Amino acid sequence: MAKLTVKDIDLKDKKVIMRVDFNVPCDKRGKITDETRIKEALPTIKYVLKHAKKLILMSHLGRPDGKIVESLRLTEVAKKLSKLLKKPVEKLDDCVGEDIKKKIEKTPKKIILLENLRFHPQEEKGDENFAKELASLADVYVNDAFGTAHRAHASTTIIAKYLPSCIGFLMEKELNSLSCALAPTKPYVVILGGAKVSDKIGLIKNLLNKADKILIGGAMAYTFLKAKGITVGKSKIEEDKLSLAEQLLEEAKNKNVQILLPVDHLAVDNIDEPKIKIITENESIDDNLIGVDIGPKTISLFKKALKDANTVLWNGPLGIFENNAYAKGTKEIALYLAKLKKAMTIVGGGDSAAAAKKFGVAKKLCHVSTGGGASLEFLEGKELPGIMIIPDKK
Ligand code: 3PG
Repeated sequence: MAKLTVKDIDLKDKKVIMRVDFNVPCDKRGKITDETRIKEALPTIKYVLKHAKKLILMSHLGRPDGKIVESLRLTEVAKKLSKLLKKPVEKLDDCVGEDIKKKIEKTPKKIILLENLRFHPQEEKGDENFAKELASLADVYVNDAFGTAHRAHASTTIIAKYLPSCIGFLMEKELNSLSCALAPTKPYVVILGGAKVSDKIGLIKNLLNKADKILIGGAMAYTFLKAKGITVGKSKIEEDKLSLAEQLLEEAKNKNVQILLPVDHLAVDNIDEPKIKIITENESIDDNLIGVDIGPKTISLFKKALKDANTVLWNGPLGIFENNAYAKGTKEIALYLAKLKKAMTIVGGGDSAAAAKKFGVAKKLCHVSTGGGASLEFLEGKELPGIMIIPDKK
């Protein structure tokens, strides 16, 4: 069911409080290294600024665990936002209290950014009084923080009990696009990667009911290979997930879902020294070797499997792509996805979103999610509290 959006609520002369996910990566000196989440919130921010009296933005940054952590203040975020909007942003040094209320009333600036919500332990506890205090700052609540929609926190969920509430355009875009991965136009091909099978169990189980083919790479592929009795050397596997991997392979067979595992590999004996050996289809990975990327034959196999897809979901890198020496598999598949003309190509956020960006294809794919944990839970078929609490469209 579609949720109310900012367009469904009369914002004239209203103060709007909007939850955004400005939890952006920063370097050691606090400089923002990827501003995607700020940029993606701009359409709703601009819309609210045009139609409402005042916009109060709120976000978390990092995990300060209910204490003030100087390096996790939102000061740099406010500067970046102001630069992107070409408008002054009033950055406050707290998010609740009489003083904050007065400052909001007094400032001539139309856009305000509250301080990191997680400096207060009540935020993550979903505290009712803290949510009421936040709600008392405005007349309307907008949730545009898809990345945090899986958290039942005061600012992401509980506040919606106390104000007329709706979602923003980023949230709407995320829901519409990720829903295509749950109700796909067939053929539906899923690419899964990343380090651990254990992170993706719920996802794989849900996708076994929907996908035609699942291509598996990354370190998690080695757990599946070992479960099939294939030698994987020193590759990172999860010993305690071998029988689960075996069950999943069996379930796929019963459900007629084709699972494609790597047939060749790039391997090294020391991850920090990229002296790469190509392990071909007829060889096995030696006892002292660690698989770090899919090999050339696997890249061709995966491309062939993707060729006629109408929907593609990509979740997790296929090798250790952060190291250029081990990035070829992830890069080639990312570039290939960008060339698919008719397919709805969806990237499930997190590391795969970072890879799509690194290889310059993020804008060429249909949707790259801003959520990590949130998109994973959504694709597992779970109901996200931050979305559930928003009223449906009439
Ligand atoms: C994210 O980066 O996935 C979101 O901002 C949520 O952050 P959290 O996992 O600390 O709740």
